[in-house]
Amino acid sequence: ATKDAPQDHIGNGGELHQVAGGDSPVLTTAHGAPVQDDNNSLRAGDRGPTLLEDHAFREKIFHFDHERIPERVVHARGYGAHGVFECHESLSDLTRASVFAEAGKQTETFVRFSTVAGNLGSFDLARDVRGFATKFYTDEGNWDLVGNNIPVFFIQDAVKFPDLVHSVKEEPDRGFPQAQSAHDTFWDFASLMPESTHMTLWQMSDRAIPRSFRMMEGFGVHTFRFVNAAGEGTFVKFHWKPVLGMQSVVWNEAVKINGADPDFHRRDLFDAITAGDFPQWELGVQVFDDAFADAFDFDVLDATKIVPEELVPVRTVGTMTLNRVVDNVFAEIEQVAFMTQNVPPGIDFTNDPLLQGRNFSYLDTQLKRLGSTNFSQLPVNAPRCPVAHFQRDGHMQTSTQPGRAAYEPNSFTGSDRGPREAGPDGHVPFPEQVEGPTRRIRAASFRDHYSQARQFFLSQTDVEQGHIVAAYVFELGKCEIPAIRARMVANLRNVDESLAARVADGLGMPLPAASEAAAPLVETEPSP
Ligand code: HEM
Repeated sequence: ATKDAPQDHIGNGGELHQVAGGDSPVLTTAHGAPVQDDNNSLRAGDRGPTLLEDHAFREKIFHFDHERIPERVVHARGYGAHGVFECHESLSDLTRASVFAEAGKQTETFVRFSTVAGNLGSFDLARDVRGFATKFYTDEGNWDLVGNNIPVFFIQDAVKFPDLVHSVKEEPDRGFPQAQSAHDTFWDFASLMPESTHMTLWQMSDRAIPRSFRMMEGFGVHTFRFVNAAGEGTFVKFHWKPVLGMQSVVWNEAVKINGADPDFHRRDLFDAITAGDFPQWELGVQVFDDAFADAFDFDVLDATKIVPEELVPVRTVGTMTLNRVVDNVFAEIEQVAFMTQNVPPGIDFTNDPLLQGRNFSYLDTQLKRLGSTNFSQLPVNAPRCPVAHFQRDGHMQTSTQPGRAAYEPNSFTGSDRGPREAGPDGHVPFPEQVEGPTRRIRAASFRDHYSQARQFFLSQTDVEQGHIVAAYVFELGKCEIPAIRARMVANLRNVDESLAARVADGLGMPLPAASEAAAPLVETEPSP
């Protein structure tokens, strides 16, 4: 878990010679040929042109020219580490997922924490949602729990995701602002999309400026399914609770830290792990059945809602410990490819329309970013269980799966024959009942955008409410277009009159009429 102390990096017994020998291996080309001289290109004569035949020089420049890959379209700035998850008790009554098979069962993990809006080189302490993505290398394939540190989301349907992200990214005609929510375009979008109200309250709260990745909660956000060996399903929500407790900084601290050390969060995680102070999170689940879900006055398929913990307590089922920093940031943290569709047998999706869209998106985006259909073979992405299939070839293929037949059915035998389907031992989809005509109208159960937002605001202490008000005032104060500000404050009247009044006061504007708030854009079905 430790890295060499800095003084050990001054090698060669203090001699600064630059030729191979002692603990310095021979410098080679990428193809292994020893390089004679790494300081002078091959030239004709004393002051003549560089020669094409200097292949070592050409290879060095060629590789450098191609070093960059596209940064993630969202969550570009992140940092990660390796760890292990230990299950506290068997959950076999609920799920056949091997990661929860028995008390003491250990599964290796890799976690990447991130900001969402900022570019790769942006600062760590932006007011933003944080990604909390965990890859569990289970015995039956990778399980990617690709969550955030806030339990709800801005939108209900994945079709709005590009719009949401475009509103928060730099504006196309000027290339700023980046990595912050102080945007005309973001508040324009949010004020026109009342379904984002609950999430913006969390975003304006102290949760959005965490003290450390080690002191953040994490949430799977969506309602997922647990499925047991008998094929019985329950709903499940996933929670990560930091053992160090949850801590945030205040805005003035965040601003100073960003100026003094834009790498504050990544440095903090690296320093803690290399010092042997391993951060830990308890994994909690909220489990409930369909009948219980039907009794809620909101829809469990709506990612803008939480399942209140007083109704369904969080049950702690395991502990994750991050105990090893990466050897190489690019190879591991940049090339790790999380995908919500990676679920092992025993864990399944629900019809949450945001989750369904994500299940399409991540495969696409990883191909674009990593450039080869074989990105699953990169060490950080490769399952730690046997892999056998009939997919073949493609750019950067490293698999040497033996055998003659790359199709099924085939009549070969032995190692020529290849793998066969697992049947009931495979990932059996939960037999969800689906009925009704195809349609785009959103269900009435997705309609209430304010009750949980109000409950969240009222659940905060006076000091925390003050921080939320101050955050709205600061962020909306950066909005140059008064009508956007007014529409947003009018929208807050639907949450809590005192919140709206305090924000209007802070902005030095009259309280806008409630009628200035935007009505939901989307058509919902009439109430039953
Ligand atoms: C990346 C979470 C919604 C598309 C990520 C990452 C996280 C995350 C944590 C970073 C993964 C990493 O560290 O490598 C979430 C959560 C969502 C959500 C919690 C809502 C509940 C969506 C939706 C879409 C989407 C609706 C598209 C329909 C993407 C894409 C990336 C990404 C394209 C970049 C992936 C990459 O290049 O590696 N998301 N996301 N996300 N997400 Fe989401």
